[in-house]
Amino acid sequence: MKAVVQDRYGSPDALEFRDVEPPAASGNEVLVRVHAASVNAYDWHVMRGDPYLARLTGVGFTGPGRKIRGRDFAGRVEAVGRDVRRFRPGDEVFGDLGTADGAFAEYVCVPEDLVETKPANLTFDQAAAVPLAGHTALKGLRDIGKLQAGQHVLVNGASGGVGTFAVQIAKSMGATVTGVCRTRNVELVASLGADHVVDYTEDDFTRNGTHYDLIFDLVGNHSLTGLRRALAPGGTIVLSGGGVFSGGSLVGPMWLMIRAKLQAPFVRDRIHVLTTTPDGEILAALRRLAESGAFTPVVDRTYSLAEASDAVRYVETEHARAKVVITA
Ligand SMILES: NC(=O)c1ccc[n+]([C@@H]2O[C@H](COP(=O)([O-])OP(=O)(O)OC[C@H]3O[C@@H](n4cnc5c(N)ncnc54)[C@H](OP(=O)(O)O)[C@@H]3O)[C@@H](O)[C@H]2O)c1
Repeated sequence: MKAVVQDRYGSPDALEFRDVEPPAASGNEVLVRVHAASVNAYDWHVMRGDPYLARLTGVGFTGPGRKIRGRDFAGRVEAVGRDVRRFRPGDEVFGDLGTADGAFAEYVCVPEDLVETKPANLTFDQAAAVPLAGHTALKGLRDIGKLQAGQHVLVNGASGGVGTFAVQIAKSMGATVTGVCRTRNVELVASLGADHVVDYTEDDFTRNGTHYDLIFDLVGNHSLTGLRRALAPGGTIVLSGGGVFSGGSLVGPMWLMIRAKLQAPFVRDRIHVLTTTPDGEILAALRRLAESGAFTPVVDRTYSLAEASDAVRYVETEHARAKVVITA
């Protein structure tokens, strides 16, 4: 099969479009013919092995352990292992491979508990956009942020992959939503339902006197002191990575999160660092939310599998609008 493979850490030039052995389903695994995969910030961090500290988390120290990039996929079941109960060939599905990686390929093999029926109202391209970004948004708002109807949430990075889901999901939960983005994305964020949009090129939300019950920070460009200044009494900060790309560093975007972990026990405000691992329950919840109309994925650009390095190059600018999808 064709796949996007890397033998060494590096820039998108390290990604090669070439033939590899297709995987085969056994046991509880489902073999999926990938119709679309989406690009996440995770993919370029692993592609570069950056920040270096992340190499200690099992992705490979001197080079990538998994050679095919890509986590999120949507496609059609081609074959199933003999222990698979929920799926059969022909079913339309979507999912997140997690650190197993491998979605920038014509086929993926994945345990059935990490696969979900594709939302009936979404195309393959739209469904592939959902898993990791939707998961991050839902977990950050619902599980960690404990967002309640009537509360005011600020989403910093509202025009990005996670942010475009977070704005829509927060609205569907009955919150008042403020989205932060740059000028060219103000209209997009408003169209997703945000009640207020802060253009960060003109205004600093940590200094304009407005206070939020929940700050969901997807960018990491403000200090914890600044974020806490914008918090209402008893409010919560959820950090989900960020730190504008510095290009080769020991901790990179993890620095703010490490400081948050160290500070959190000593301050009155609730400060949480979000982590995500593939989760069948959350994937099922995302399917129901999509089918209920709570969100519609925003796909800004699509690339062919052969153009995957261009897709990743665009996403690592950290200014891609919403989601970027690769079609196989
Ligand atoms: N913890 C986890 O498990 C987890 C899971 C998924 C993602 N993440 C992390 O969450 C972050 C967001 O992910 P994503 O997929 O949404 O990334 P993305 O699609 O690349 O979006 C990045 C966002 O950052 C904004 N941005 C860039 N520079 C900015 C600046 N100087 N000031 C304010 N905003 C700025 C961009 O908006 P404009 O173009 O409008 O400037 C864009 O909306 C990433 O760091 C990712 O690694 C963490």
